[in-house]
Amino acid sequence: MQSSLIDIQGRKISYLRVSVTDRCDMRCVYCMSENMEFLPRPEVLTYEELERLCAVFMQHGVKRIRLTGGEPLVRRDIGGFLLSLGRWIQPDATTPGLDELTLTTNGSQLRRYADTLVKAGVRRVNVSLDSLKPERFSAITRRGDLRQTLDGVRAARDAGLAVRINTVAMKGINDDEFDDLIAWCGEIGADLCLIETMPMGETGEDRRAQYLPLHAIRLSLQKRWTFEAANGAGGAGPARYVRVAETGQKLGFITPLSHNFCDSCNRVRLSCSGQLYTCLGSDNAVDLRAILRSGGSDEDILRAIDLSLARKPFRHDFLIPDNDADVQGPARLMSVTGG
Ligand code: GTP
Ligand code: 5AD
Ligand code: SF4
Repeated sequence: MQSSLIDIQGRKISYLRVSVTDRCDMRCVYCMSENMEFLPRPEVLTYEELERLCAVFMQHGVKRIRLTGGEPLVRRDIGGFLLSLGRWIQPDATTPGLDELTLTTNGSQLRRYADTLVKAGVRRVNVSLDSLKPERFSAITRRGDLRQTLDGVRAARDAGLAVRINTVAMKGINDDEFDDLIAWCGEIGADLCLIETMPMGETGEDRRAQYLPLHAIRLSLQKRWTFEAANGAGGAGPARYVRVAETGQKLGFITPLSHNFCDSCNRVRLSCSGQLYTCLGSDNAVDLRAILRSGGSDEDILRAIDLSLARKPFRHDFLIPDNDADVQGPARLMSVTGG
């Protein structure tokens, strides 16, 4: 009989985010520092190890898996892993297995993998894109090429994947582009999600100067666009959606700082080295790799997961004050768990 994973607050955990690599071909200013040291390969779980852990989660009620990174599509043989995980997608909700397999990507390798994603059963992808201006895009990503990301988005759409563009909203950096992004997403048939920047780790950037609370942005966008209720668009994530009447596409807002959503949290995160983080905002983790590599059983893994859920924080305590008080957030970089 399949049991569910329930945390100390009674929240049901049905969503697992799996970082398959800490590496990335970009260095976005809010995510990584310029000089990154990545994990030595032996520390990274093999695909077999990752799938074994995923299987334990799926056998205990996890219905959605999102692959993240770093950049998930830069890991070698990721296509094989996707196809393998795709076999867990079940049309029948009562059988252990996935309702949804998806990923968050920077889009640089999407052209190469779009068909494999579809073959694996992926239906939608979230693509990070913070600017439609080539030079600005290069400055934000430090090494990205806008043309390559746009080409990846086009390939994903052509392959039949639904696309949501993720845009981290940054004061003085891309806050003059939201209208253009809404219009462009309308043209290509993609949804858009604006995200408040979260202070994860030391990236060398001034978090306070860049932080943009999204409620004011939402009000100002409403002067140009008509927002309608997005029926059935609640989704399983932190985004709150409206539908933009002029484009027909959804527009989401992720507001960890200005409007907390932790009471409905349904997720945990596995890093590529097998650390289980139960909250994005906390550095507490349980080492599942140690259990795997010391010959632990599935029951041992499950026990460790349950123990960590008993300590899942009620909410994150990210803080970007508008005065001189300290910015507050975990020490680890966003790239460890990919959001
Ligand atoms: P959907 O499944 O499409 O709703 O995706 P998602 O929004 O959950 O995932 P995505 O990888 O696209 O992440 C978008 C943003 O949401 C990133 O900035 C993530 O860090 C952030 N995010 C995702 N889950 C959480 C969460 O549990 N807490 C917080 N604070 N932020 C989250
Ligand atoms: N704050 C908010 N979102 C972030 N992302 C990366 N770093 C941050 C941050 N510090 C976003 C990326 C990607 C998603 C996984 O997380 O843009 O779309
Ligand atoms: Fe790479 Fe995504 Fe982090 Fe940018 S946000 S550096 S694309 S992992």
